[in-house]
Amino acid sequence: MGAEANGLKAGNAVDSRTLLYCVIGDPIHHSKSPLMLNRAFRETGENGIYTAFHITGDRLGAFIQGVRAMGIRGVNVTIPHKVEIMSHLDEIDASARALGAVNTIVNDNGRLIGYNTDGIGYVRSLKEEAAADLAGKRIVLLGAGGAARGIVYALAAERPATITIVNRTIDRAEELAASVSGHTGLKDVRAVGAFGLEMACRQADVVINTTSIGMSPQTEGLPMDINVSWLKTEAVASEIIYNPLKTRFLREAEAAGRRVHGGLGMFIYQGAYAFEYWTGKPAPVPAMRETVLEALGYTSQAIT
Ligand code: ATR
Repeated sequence: MGAEANGLKAGNAVDSRTLLYCVIGDPIHHSKSPLMLNRAFRETGENGIYTAFHITGDRLGAFIQGVRAMGIRGVNVTIPHKVEIMSHLDEIDASARALGAVNTIVNDNGRLIGYNTDGIGYVRSLKEEAAADLAGKRIVLLGAGGAARGIVYALAAERPATITIVNRTIDRAEELAASVSGHTGLKDVRAVGAFGLEMACRQADVVINTTSIGMSPQTEGLPMDINVSWLKTEAVASEIIYNPLKTRFLREAEAAGRRVHGGLGMFIYQGAYAFEYWTGKPAPVPAMRETVLEALGYTSQAIT
Protein backbone atom coordinates (compact mmCIF):
# COMPACT_ATOMS: atom_id res chain seq x y z
CA MET A 1 0.00 0.00 0.00
CA GLY A 2 1.66 3.24 -1.13
CA ALA A 3 1.36 6.79 0.05
CA GLU A 4 -1.63 7.31 -2.21
CA ALA A 5 -3.65 4.50 -0.63
CA ASN A 6 -2.86 5.92 2.79
CA GLY A 7 -4.33 9.23 1.72
CA LEU A 8 -1.02 11.03 2.17
CA LYS A 9 -1.54 12.57 -1.22
CA ALA A 10 -4.80 14.41 -0.77
CA GLY A 11 -6.51 16.03 -3.75
CA ASN A 12 -4.56 17.29 -6.71
CA ALA A 13 -1.90 20.01 -6.47
CA VAL A 14 -3.26 22.45 -3.90
CA ASP A 15 -3.31 26.04 -5.10
CA SER A 16 -5.21 29.25 -4.44
CA ARG A 17 -8.26 27.97 -6.33
CA THR A 18 -8.58 24.69 -4.45
CA LEU A 19 -12.07 24.15 -3.05
CA LEU A 20 -12.41 22.81 0.47
CA TYR A 21 -14.62 19.92 1.60
CA CYS A 22 -14.90 18.04 4.88
CA VAL A 23 -16.78 15.59 7.05
CA ILE A 24 -17.77 16.45 10.63
CA GLY A 25 -18.77 14.13 13.46
CA ASP A 26 -18.08 13.19 17.05
CA PRO A 27 -16.12 10.89 16.98
CA ILE A 28 -14.71 11.21 13.45
CA HIS A 29 -11.20 9.83 13.19
CA HIS A 30 -12.39 6.36 12.07
CA SER A 31 -14.02 7.92 8.97
CA LYS A 32 -13.04 6.58 5.54
CA SER A 33 -14.69 9.53 3.77
CA PRO A 34 -11.51 11.64 3.39
CA LEU A 35 -9.63 8.79 1.67
CA MET A 36 -12.63 8.02 -0.54
CA LEU A 37 -13.42 11.60 -1.58
CA ASN A 38 -9.81 12.67 -2.14
CA ARG A 39 -9.44 9.65 -4.42
CA ALA A 40 -12.54 10.85 -6.28
CA PHE A 41 -11.05 14.34 -6.70
CA ARG A 42 -7.80 12.90 -8.04
CA GLU A 43 -9.58 10.52 -10.43
CA THR A 44 -11.70 13.27 -11.95
CA GLY A 45 -9.12 16.09 -11.84
CA GLU A 46 -11.34 18.20 -9.58
CA ASN A 47 -9.34 20.85 -7.75
CA GLY A 48 -10.60 19.93 -4.30
CA ILE A 49 -9.34 18.72 -0.96
CA TYR A 50 -11.36 16.90 1.69
CA THR A 51 -10.56 16.53 5.36
CA ALA A 52 -12.24 15.52 8.65
CA PHE A 53 -13.05 17.74 11.61
CA HIS A 54 -13.94 16.56 15.08
CA ILE A 55 -16.81 18.90 15.97
CA THR A 56 -18.66 18.54 19.27
CA GLY A 57 -22.34 19.49 19.53
CA ASP A 58 -21.63 22.79 21.28
CA ARG A 59 -19.45 23.94 18.33
CA LEU A 60 -21.86 23.24 15.47
CA GLY A 61 -22.89 26.90 15.14
CA ALA A 62 -19.28 28.06 15.20
CA PHE A 63 -18.40 25.43 12.60
CA ILE A 64 -21.16 26.68 10.26
CA GLN A 65 -19.89 30.25 10.65
CA GLY A 66 -16.51 28.89 9.59
CA VAL A 67 -18.04 27.22 6.53
CA ARG A 68 -19.61 30.52 5.51
CA ALA A 69 -16.50 32.59 6.26
CA MET A 70 -14.10 30.28 4.47
CA GLY A 71 -16.39 29.32 1.63
CA ILE A 72 -16.07 25.59 2.30
CA ARG A 73 -17.86 24.15 -0.72
CA GLY A 74 -19.17 20.89 0.70
CA VAL A 75 -19.66 19.17 4.04
CA ASN A 76 -20.65 15.64 5.00
CA VAL A 77 -22.32 15.33 8.37
CA THR A 78 -22.24 12.17 10.42
CA ILE A 79 -23.24 10.93 13.88
CA PRO A 80 -24.39 12.62 16.08
CA HIS A 81 -25.08 15.84 14.11
CA LYS A 82 -27.40 14.80 11.24
CA VAL A 83 -30.53 16.21 12.90
CA GLU A 84 -29.15 19.20 14.81
CA ILE A 85 -27.28 20.56 11.78
CA MET A 86 -30.59 21.26 10.03
CA SER A 87 -31.35 24.32 12.18
CA HIS A 88 -28.15 25.99 10.91
CA LEU A 89 -28.88 25.73 7.16
CA ASP A 90 -30.62 28.09 4.71
CA GLU A 91 -32.59 25.45 2.85
CA ILE A 92 -33.36 21.74 3.24
CA ASP A 93 -34.15 19.53 0.29
CA ALA A 94 -37.68 18.02 0.51
CA SER A 95 -36.60 14.42 0.97
CA ALA A 96 -34.08 15.31 3.70
CA ARG A 97 -36.87 17.27 5.40
CA ALA A 98 -39.22 14.27 5.22
CA LEU A 99 -36.74 11.94 6.87
CA GLY A 100 -35.56 14.61 9.27
CA ALA A 101 -31.79 14.36 8.81
CA VAL A 102 -29.06 15.88 6.64
CA ASN A 103 -25.78 14.19 5.74
CA THR A 104 -24.59 16.46 2.91
CA ILE A 105 -24.35 20.26 2.67
CA VAL A 106 -23.78 22.13 -0.57
CA ASN A 107 -22.49 25.69 -0.19
CA ASP A 108 -24.04 27.39 -3.20
CA ASN A 109 -22.40 30.83 -3.25
CA GLY A 110 -22.99 31.33 0.45
CA ARG A 111 -26.36 29.61 0.59
CA LEU A 112 -26.13 26.37 2.59
CA ILE A 113 -28.44 23.66 1.29
CA GLY A 114 -28.93 20.36 3.14
CA TYR A 115 -29.50 16.99 1.44
CA ASN A 116 -29.59 13.40 2.55
CA THR A 117 -27.77 10.92 0.33
CA ASP A 118 -27.93 7.91 2.69
CA GLY A 119 -31.26 6.53 1.48
CA ILE A 120 -30.70 7.13 -2.23
CA GLY A 121 -27.17 5.78 -1.80
CA TYR A 122 -28.53 2.60 -0.23
CA VAL A 123 -31.17 2.14 -2.94
CA ARG A 124 -28.69 2.74 -5.79
CA SER A 125 -26.37 0.15 -4.28
CA LEU A 126 -29.18 -2.38 -3.75
CA LYS A 127 -30.43 -1.95 -7.33
CA GLU A 128 -26.98 -2.12 -8.91
CA GLU A 129 -25.73 -5.02 -6.82
CA ALA A 130 -28.71 -7.22 -5.98
CA ALA A 131 -32.27 -6.26 -6.99
CA ALA A 132 -32.50 -4.19 -10.17
CA ASP A 133 -36.23 -3.45 -9.91
CA LEU A 134 -37.95 -2.87 -6.58
CA ALA A 135 -41.35 -1.92 -8.04
CA GLY A 136 -44.05 -4.30 -6.83
CA LYS A 137 -41.64 -6.08 -4.46
CA ARG A 138 -42.27 -6.92 -0.81
CA ILE A 139 -39.66 -5.35 1.43
CA VAL A 140 -39.01 -6.13 5.10
CA LEU A 141 -37.00 -3.78 7.31
CA LEU A 142 -35.58 -5.00 10.61
CA GLY A 143 -35.37 -2.04 13.00
CA ALA A 144 -37.14 1.31 13.23
CA GLY A 145 -34.38 3.64 14.47
CA GLY A 146 -32.47 6.42 12.74
CA ALA A 147 -30.81 4.05 10.30
CA ALA A 148 -34.17 2.58 9.19
CA ARG A 149 -35.58 6.09 8.82
CA GLY A 150 -32.59 7.02 6.68
CA ILE A 151 -33.39 4.47 3.98
CA VAL A 152 -37.12 3.77 4.16
CA TYR A 153 -38.30 6.91 2.31
CA ALA A 154 -35.98 6.18 -0.61
CA LEU A 155 -37.26 2.59 -0.67
CA ALA A 156 -40.86 3.83 -0.71
CA ALA A 157 -40.05 6.02 -3.72
CA GLU A 158 -39.33 2.83 -5.70
CA ARG A 159 -43.03 1.90 -5.34
CA PRO A 160 -42.71 -1.55 -3.77
CA ALA A 161 -45.95 -3.49 -3.14
CA THR A 162 -45.38 -3.42 0.62
CA ILE A 163 -42.89 -2.31 3.23
CA THR A 164 -43.07 -4.12 6.56
CA ILE A 165 -41.16 -2.58 9.46
CA VAL A 166 -40.35 -5.17 12.12
CA ASN A 167 -39.14 -3.82 15.44
CA ARG A 168 -38.66 -5.06 18.99
CA THR A 169 -40.51 -1.94 20.18
CA ILE A 170 -43.63 -1.96 18.03
CA ASP A 171 -44.57 1.67 18.81
CA ARG A 172 -41.48 2.92 16.98
CA ALA A 173 -42.34 0.75 13.96
CA GLU A 174 -45.90 2.11 13.94
CA GLU A 175 -44.71 5.69 14.13
CA LEU A 176 -42.25 5.23 11.28
CA ALA A 177 -44.77 3.35 9.12
CA ALA A 178 -47.34 6.14 9.55
CA SER A 179 -44.76 8.79 8.68
CA VAL A 180 -43.64 6.93 5.54
CA SER A 181 -47.14 6.46 4.17
CA GLY A 182 -47.98 10.05 5.08
CA HIS A 183 -44.99 11.50 3.24
CA THR A 184 -44.78 9.15 0.25
CA GLY A 185 -48.39 8.09 -0.32
CA LEU A 186 -47.32 4.42 -0.31
CA LYS A 187 -50.42 2.71 1.06
CA ASP A 188 -49.18 -0.64 2.26
CA VAL A 189 -46.62 0.18 4.96
CA ARG A 190 -46.98 -2.20 7.90
CA ALA A 191 -45.58 -2.29 11.40
CA VAL A 192 -45.11 -5.47 13.40
CA GLY A 193 -43.28 -6.56 16.54
CA ALA A 194 -40.54 -9.21 16.55
CA PHE A 195 -43.23 -11.91 16.76
CA GLY A 196 -44.20 -11.06 13.17
CA LEU A 197 -40.72 -11.49 11.72
CA GLU A 198 -41.10 -15.08 10.48
CA MET A 199 -44.37 -14.40 8.67
CA ALA A 200 -42.98 -11.21 7.11
CA CYS A 201 -39.80 -12.95 5.95
CA ARG A 202 -41.70 -15.83 4.33
CA GLN A 203 -43.38 -13.37 1.96
CA ALA A 204 -40.47 -11.00 1.40
CA ASP A 205 -38.42 -10.35 -1.73
CA VAL A 206 -35.86 -8.25 0.16
CA VAL A 207 -35.06 -8.40 3.91
CA ILE A 208 -32.90 -5.56 5.20
CA ASN A 209 -31.21 -5.36 8.59
CA THR A 210 -31.04 -1.75 9.76
CA THR A 211 -30.24 -2.54 13.41
CA SER A 212 -26.61 -2.41 14.48
CA ILE A 213 -26.71 -6.09 15.50
CA GLY A 214 -23.80 -7.90 13.83
CA MET A 215 -21.57 -4.85 13.55
CA SER A 216 -17.92 -5.11 14.56
CA PRO A 217 -16.81 -5.85 17.27
CA GLN A 218 -19.97 -7.86 18.16
CA THR A 219 -19.91 -9.80 14.93
CA GLU A 220 -21.73 -12.89 16.23
CA GLY A 221 -25.02 -11.06 16.72
CA LEU A 222 -28.07 -12.01 14.67
CA PRO A 223 -30.87 -9.40 14.50
CA MET A 224 -34.01 -10.55 16.32
CA ASP A 225 -32.82 -14.17 16.10
CA ILE A 226 -33.80 -14.26 12.46
CA ASN A 227 -33.66 -17.70 10.85
CA VAL A 228 -32.52 -17.35 7.23
CA SER A 229 -34.48 -20.46 6.22
CA TRP A 230 -37.59 -18.25 6.55
CA LEU A 231 -36.48 -16.31 3.45
CA LYS A 232 -37.73 -17.43 0.04
CA THR A 233 -34.94 -19.04 -2.00
CA GLU A 234 -34.89 -16.13 -4.45
CA ALA A 235 -35.05 -13.43 -1.75
CA VAL A 236 -32.23 -10.94 -1.12
CA ALA A 237 -30.73 -10.53 2.37
CA SER A 238 -29.37 -7.00 2.73
CA GLU A 239 -27.39 -4.99 5.28
CA ILE A 240 -26.36 -1.43 5.88
CA ILE A 241 -23.42 -2.57 8.04
CA TYR A 242 -20.12 -2.72 6.13
CA ASN A 243 -17.77 -3.70 8.92
CA PRO A 244 -17.62 -6.67 8.67
CA LEU A 245 -18.27 -6.76 4.91
CA LYS A 246 -20.50 -9.79 5.55
CA THR A 247 -22.34 -9.94 8.86
CA ARG A 248 -23.45 -13.21 10.41
CA PHE A 249 -26.92 -12.58 8.91
CA LEU A 250 -25.42 -12.35 5.42
CA ARG A 251 -23.04 -15.27 5.95
CA GLU A 252 -25.90 -17.51 7.05
CA ALA A 253 -28.12 -16.31 4.22
CA GLU A 254 -25.37 -16.96 1.68
CA ALA A 255 -24.67 -20.41 3.10
CA ALA A 256 -28.41 -21.14 2.70
CA GLY A 257 -28.23 -20.10 -0.98
CA ARG A 258 -29.90 -16.69 -0.69
CA ARG A 259 -28.60 -13.64 -2.54
CA VAL A 260 -26.80 -11.21 -0.25
CA HIS A 261 -26.09 -7.48 -0.39
CA GLY A 262 -23.60 -5.92 2.04
CA GLY A 263 -23.56 -2.37 3.38
CA LEU A 264 -20.35 -1.18 1.72
CA GLY A 265 -22.17 -0.03 -1.41
CA MET A 266 -24.41 2.28 0.63
CA PHE A 267 -21.35 4.01 2.08
CA ILE A 268 -19.75 4.33 -1.37
CA TYR A 269 -22.89 5.65 -3.06
CA GLN A 270 -23.84 8.13 -0.33
CA GLY A 271 -20.39 9.60 -0.95
CA ALA A 272 -20.82 9.32 -4.72
CA TYR A 273 -24.07 11.32 -4.60
CA ALA A 274 -22.41 13.97 -2.40
CA PHE A 275 -19.56 14.23 -4.91
CA GLU A 276 -22.07 14.58 -7.75
CA TYR A 277 -24.06 17.30 -5.94
CA TRP A 278 -20.86 19.27 -5.26
CA THR A 279 -19.12 18.92 -8.61
CA GLY A 280 -21.84 18.12 -11.14
CA LYS A 281 -19.61 15.30 -12.42
CA PRO A 282 -20.27 11.56 -12.30
CA ALA A 283 -18.48 10.00 -9.34
CA PRO A 284 -15.66 7.53 -10.07
CA VAL A 285 -17.36 4.74 -8.11
CA PRO A 286 -14.96 1.81 -8.80
CA ALA A 287 -11.95 3.87 -7.70
CA MET A 288 -13.79 5.05 -4.57
CA ARG A 289 -14.71 1.46 -3.74
CA GLU A 290 -11.12 0.30 -4.24
CA THR A 291 -9.82 2.97 -1.87
CA VAL A 292 -12.32 2.12 0.88
CA LEU A 293 -11.66 -1.61 0.59
CA GLU A 294 -7.92 -0.97 0.89
CA ALA A 295 -8.49 1.25 3.90
CA LEU A 296 -10.54 -1.51 5.53
CA GLY A 297 -7.72 -3.96 4.87
CA TYR A 298 -9.33 -5.87 2.00
CA THR A 299 -8.30 -6.33 -1.60
CA SER A 300 -10.78 -5.27 -4.28
CA GLN A 301 -11.59 -8.93 -4.97
CA ALA A 302 -12.96 -9.34 -1.42
CA ILE A 303 -16.39 -8.12 -2.44
CA THR A 304 -18.51 -9.39 -5.26
P1 ATR B 1 -29.86 3.82 14.74
O1 ATR B 1 -29.91 5.31 14.62
O2 ATR B 1 -28.50 3.23 14.51
O3 ATR B 1 -30.91 3.11 13.96
P2 ATR B 1 -31.41 3.55 17.17
O4 ATR B 1 -32.27 4.71 16.82
O5 ATR B 1 -30.98 3.37 18.58
O6 ATR B 1 -30.08 3.54 16.33
O7 ATR B 1 -32.14 2.21 16.66
C1 ATR B 1 -31.60 0.97 16.83
C2 ATR B 1 -32.53 -0.08 16.23
O8 ATR B 1 -32.01 -1.37 16.51
C3 ATR B 1 -33.91 -0.04 16.82
O9 ATR B 1 -34.83 -0.51 15.88
C4 ATR B 1 -33.77 -1.03 17.98
O10 ATR B 1 -34.98 -1.58 18.43
P3 ATR B 1 -35.85 -0.82 19.56
O11 ATR B 1 -36.55 0.32 18.86
O12 ATR B 1 -36.78 -1.85 20.06
O13 ATR B 1 -34.86 -0.34 20.59
C5 ATR B 1 -32.93 -2.08 17.33
N1 ATR B 1 -32.21 -2.89 18.31
C6 ATR B 1 -31.13 -2.52 19.02
N2 ATR B 1 -30.73 -3.52 19.82
C7 ATR B 1 -31.59 -4.55 19.61
C8 ATR B 1 -31.69 -5.89 20.13
N3 ATR B 1 -30.83 -6.38 21.01
N4 ATR B 1 -32.70 -6.66 19.66
C9 ATR B 1 -33.58 -6.18 18.75
N5 ATR B 1 -33.53 -4.94 18.23
C10 ATR B 1 -32.54 -4.13 18.64
